[in-house]
Amino acid sequence: MRRPVRIAVTGAAGAISYSLLFKIAAGEMMGKDQPVILQLIELPHAMESLRGVAMELEDCAYPLLHTITLHDNVEDGFKSAHYALLVGARPRGPGMERSDLLEVNAEIFARQGRALNDFANRDVKVLVTGNPANTNALIASRNAPNLSPSQFTCLTRLDHNRAKGILASHSGATARDINGIIIWGNHSPTQYPDLHQATILGEPALSQIDMDWYRDVFIPQVQQRGGAIIDARGLSSAASAAQAIVNQMHDWVLGTDPGEIVSMGILSDGSYGIEKGIFFSFPVRCNYGRYQIVRGIEINEFSQQRLNDTEQELLDEKAVIEHLLPKETEASHLNLSICLRSGVTLYADGTGPEQTSKFMTTNRVM
Ligand code: NAD
Ligand code: LMR
Repeated sequence: MRRPVRIAVTGAAGAISYSLLFKIAAGEMMGKDQPVILQLIELPHAMESLRGVAMELEDCAYPLLHTITLHDNVEDGFKSAHYALLVGARPRGPGMERSDLLEVNAEIFARQGRALNDFANRDVKVLVTGNPANTNALIASRNAPNLSPSQFTCLTRLDHNRAKGILASHSGATARDINGIIIWGNHSPTQYPDLHQATILGEPALSQIDMDWYRDVFIPQVQQRGGAIIDARGLSSAASAAQAIVNQMHDWVLGTDPGEIVSMGILSDGSYGIEKGIFFSFPVRCNYGRYQIVRGIEINEFSQQRLNDTEQELLDEKAVIEHLLPKETEASHLNLSICLRSGVTLYADGTGPEQTSKFMTTNRVM
């Protein structure tokens, strides 16, 4: 049996986690031969609810679930984590402007970045889901001076999967028949779902669908899918978001299929003319636990305009929280190549937790 890996999850009593944690414990994210330790983190008032989730996880008797620990603070919860899934965030309340939401979450993600820096495994891989995901990822990453910005990503795989699913339904194909979809930019309605590289059963997608449908139906539908789900369900997407988290982490850690392109929110290195220093969704391939931007894709005028729009929105978001970004990490985020990694693993020990949580004591849930 392999050594267990530690996976920290914030917002662990929330709607996404109620689907996500069971998929992770079943081996869908890290592989069917990889035991996992779940370090579940919630706000103090939600600890009782989290205890219920932990009991249910225990009751599933998953063979790969080594240990569960419960935490009401990120400093404990991130300890030695190999993977950190930042799902919890403050939702927009009545009368709150988008800029208020950016600022409130900036403080939360700044603390989380510092805690990852100080307590997580040196090689921790971080995926930010809590909205506004791209800018939250930037804040967390900028607050982690001893980690590489390339260890931080944000979730745009949900948008990628949505585009694939909607195209599959429209064309009569299955999702497996489709490749080359790209989501560019922000996880917001300015994102650009690009089908210029996409194929359906190996043939160009744009030669098989009507351009009017692509422009006037498909693009806005993917861009506004999150809102449409909130309107229909009265709640935001949860199971599909959990599936996308599993997909993005799985591919990052275990690699994409040969020839497959996926979309990931990562720090821009200036590729495709996108300004450095913002988290932007790019087409990537993954191998050996690393992602690489797919280069050389031709960007026509139609696409360029949309890339510019979503880039501008991210620059505007960054401007709102700029005063909260430490100067210390500016250079490393504007030039990935000078951000040297220590390569030192401070917490190499992947075995049992060092402290017993006061929130739950049973044999396996600590
Ligand atoms: P939810 O409200 O059901 O659960 C969120 C949980 O996070 C709550 O239990 C809350 O107590 C907890 N939480 C809040 N702040 C926390 C903190 N600082 N530390 C630890 N826990 C904290 O929400 P949900 O449906 O699970 O969604 C979570 C987030 O994911 C939201 O911001 C949502 O907008 C976002 N989201 C993103 C995507 C994406 O594709 N990027 C998709 C869907 C949802
Ligand atoms: C989603 O895409 O479903 C979430 O980000 C929720 C939202 O606000 O759109």
